[in-house]
Amino acid sequence: MSRTTLVTGGTSGLGAAICSRLSQHGYKVIANYLPSTKQSAEQWQSELANAGVSVDLIAADVSDVSQCEAMAEQLSDAYGAIEVLINNAGITRDSTIKKMPMEEWQAVINTNLNSLYNVCRPLLDGMQNNRFGRIVNISSVSAQRGQFGQTNYCAAKAGVHGFTKALALETAKHGITVNSVSPGMIDTAMVQAIPDHMHQGIIDSIPVGRIGDPSDIARAVHFLVDDDAGYITGTEISVNG
Ligand code: CAA
Repeated sequence: MSRTTLVTGGTSGLGAAICSRLSQHGYKVIANYLPSTKQSAEQWQSELANAGVSVDLIAADVSDVSQCEAMAEQLSDAYGAIEVLINNAGITRDSTIKKMPMEEWQAVINTNLNSLYNVCRPLLDGMQNNRFGRIVNISSVSAQRGQFGQTNYCAAKAGVHGFTKALALETAKHGITVNSVSPGMIDTAMVQAIPDHMHQGIIDSIPVGRIGDPSDIARAVHFLVDDDAGYITGTEISVNG
């Protein structure tokens, strides 16, 4: 069955890998992107299309509740209910708390945590009516162990775990599962932005001896959204080597 799937922050990094994998496995994928990145989103979409992979696009800033409500209406009109939702959109604004301006604290909480409320809430009715839904929230190894320079990011990503477990309880009776995936250090722009002199130390700290590939995360997400994964809910899969 071609499940209708929304991936937030779907046009780059982990989101792009998730979109590609799910589309290649028969899901009807819609990639959400930040409105200001329209040009690069469309370029990514056309490169995928040239490679035979079909993904639709929808714009909305997931940190903005009214844009998310409008996105949900657009999705409902164009596709009916969303059946699979991957809350992937995320940003970093790393600095020690002493140097962190309030705007950088708020930006990370809004995009990485408040977005879950903004995006899930208007899509849940459709899942509930269909008695089927799969939600996967992308958290982080940073939330599990803490990370120097990431009080904002760790707080938001730890919040993602609590949100996941509570929403799983609220939706279990309606055929909806809610889980999180916690990536470790994965080869995306976010990790490439870590100062160069720190890279070798990071690799040395990973038992399998390498930075992960975005496809490593997409594989775990795909496992959780499968129709047959209905007995897995409220849990977290670490993918961190
Ligand atoms: N543990 C302990 N001390 C540390 C440290 C660490 N991990 N990193 C830096 N310090 C110390 C430094 O040694 C330095 O000490 P002194 O003042 O005694 O010399 C002090 O902290 C300040 O360090 P910096 O000079 O680096 O300070 P800065 O203000 O220029 O930068 C920073 C601070 C922005 C946090 C920078 O260190 C940094 O970017 N670190 C990387 C943060 C990181 O790992 N982010 C993960 C991004 S990937 C991701 O988030 C995806 C995911 O989900 C996993």
